[in-house]
Amino acid sequence: MTDFSDVEIEPLNPSNIPELVELFTKAFSGYPLIPNIEVEPKQERRILKAILDFFMSTKNSLSYGIRIEGKLVCASVSTIYPARPPIPALIRFILSMMPLSFSLVRAYGRAAFRENAWNLRRAFWGERRKYREPHLMLVLLGTSPEYQKMGFGRKMLRFLHGVAEGRKCVGVILTTNRASPAFNLYLKEGFRVEDEFPIGDTTICWMRLPLKSRDHRKCAQDGGEAS
Ligand SMILES: CC(C)(COP(=O)(O)OP(=O)(O)OC[C@H]1O[C@@H](n2cnc3c(N)ncnc32)[C@H](O)[C@@H]1OP(=O)(O)O)[C@@H](O)C(=O)NCCC(=O)NCCS
Repeated sequence: MTDFSDVEIEPLNPSNIPELVELFTKAFSGYPLIPNIEVEPKQERRILKAILDFFMSTKNSLSYGIRIEGKLVCASVSTIYPARPPIPALIRFILSMMPLSFSLVRAYGRAAFRENAWNLRRAFWGERRKYREPHLMLVLLGTSPEYQKMGFGRKMLRFLHGVAEGRKCVGVILTTNRASPAFNLYLKEGFRVEDEFPIGDTTICWMRLPLKSRDHRKCAQDGGEAS
């Protein structure tokens, strides 16, 4: 088996959005981005592009990729939470999500839409009050199917811990579908479930990994003993 242990992680920027859309479309093909609804491939690409346009336009956007022979095979998109996106980007994002709302109403039915949409919003945007100190929020992580289970996801995640520490974050947060392979990865890497949001028969989990060095420093400042 080819040894990819020395691959490098490179920063990405908005000019990489087209190849990120390609990569995430493939990565998420077996794991729907929005639970319990069938979205057409064209619409899924539009949603992905809207998410990338939005998050990669924020000042604190942090996107990274791994290439094999020049091709992007694993990527992550994160931001520092709480994020303060530029208002025009926020408006563009809301407008580009409108067609999705109609699909959600169709999929869930009008009655369940409110509850599910509310849970979706909380699941993907979190409870603002809860995290007052800066966290690195992982928005998207994906590995191209032919390169999955080779350690790229874990490598990227561990790299992001370092990025978060460099940005003086107290933890890493993310949301994921409990039934996805990503959930296992996050559990193994020390993330714990902080909140759960049922959406139809899917459970979306809000997970957090506290950063130890920050805890130690905080603990030391408080006069306590670092564990
Ligand atoms: C989640 C994902 C990014 C993992 O990437 P990857 O490069 O395959 O990850 P790794 O090879 O580093 O695997 C790390 C761990 O993930 C878990 N994992 C990966 N693929 C898995 C699968 N098909 N089934 C169950 N667990 C799996 C395992 O716990 C694995 O640990 P192990 O090697 O000790 O068994 C990849 O499966 C993916 O792109 N999934 C679709 C998109 C997605 O759900 N993204 C996350 C939400 S934003």
